[in-house]
Amino acid sequence: MAQIIIKDVTKRYANGFEALKGVSAEIVAGSFTVILGPSGAGKSTLLRTINGLETPTAGTIQVSEQIVSKATLQQVRSHVAMVFQHFNLVDRLSVMTNVLTGRLSHRSWLGSLLYLFQRCDLDIAHNALVRVGLTEKAWSRADRLSGGQQQRVGIARALAQQPRVILADEPVASLDPVTSEEIMGLLREICTRDGITIVVNLHQVELAKRFADRVIGLNEGLVVYDGPATGLDRATLSRIYRRNGDQVDEQLETMLAYA
Ligand SMILES: Nc1ncnc2c1ncn2[C@@H]1O[C@H](COP(=O)(O)OP(=O)(O)O)[C@@H](O)[C@H]1O
Ligand SMILES: [Mg+2]
Repeated sequence: MAQIIIKDVTKRYANGFEALKGVSAEIVAGSFTVILGPSGAGKSTLLRTINGLETPTAGTIQVSEQIVSKATLQQVRSHVAMVFQHFNLVDRLSVMTNVLTGRLSHRSWLGSLLYLFQRCDLDIAHNALVRVGLTEKAWSRADRLSGGQQQRVGIARALAQQPRVILADEPVASLDPVTSEEIMGLLREICTRDGITIVVNLHQVELAKRFADRVIGLNEGLVVYDGPATGLDRATLSRIYRRNGDQVDEQLETMLAYA
């Protein structure tokens, strides 16, 4: 079943720049998809349109059979969680409180306002911390943790939301290579074990190859590849990483080293 349907999506920003130029893709429930492309390709814009942080100029996005629009936004966001490059934790709050904020979309506005959590919220948050292996840090201040641990908190917060979809925008771009592998492995495991649909934006080919079921290659707002990670050969990678038509991207040679 298609969990996410992206149909002819174009995004033109207020300054006239067209970041997406007619992108279409269907993402199957429970799959692990990597959106791969150089900086500026439109990866963040695409991810942000899926949970309604950006509105497409043309085309539609459907999540769990619902068209993403102002009217459905709250419902869509309640089961679409986000994981960010810079973790987006509240530094001064405890790990547990940060994870609990994942429950806010399930609380009434008054409950949210008063930060009223129920016993079941605490259990859900605790279980999320168990999943990411951070129970012993539950009452530490978030900013006392290492980058890798902070990203685990970000993932626990996403899990606490009990989402059907997790969108991760460059979740390992601020982490060292070993920690990056661990975080990607954790996301992969969550996908496999919980059946949560995961879409990850990445610019690193080697991680896409190791973890993705499917890779959507973006270049200058266009899908230039859509297929298995095993199909990322030299020719495909140069299509994904080329700039201004033929001009060779400075990242390209490094990327091709993995082809
Ligand atoms: N709010 C905005 N206004 C104008 N241009 C933007 C805006 N956000 C992003 N862009 C431009 O759109 C293009 C795609 O950006 P983005 O989706 O962030 O790409 P990526 O995540 O692949 O690096 C870039 O050229 C970027 O400068
Ligand atoms: Mg980006």
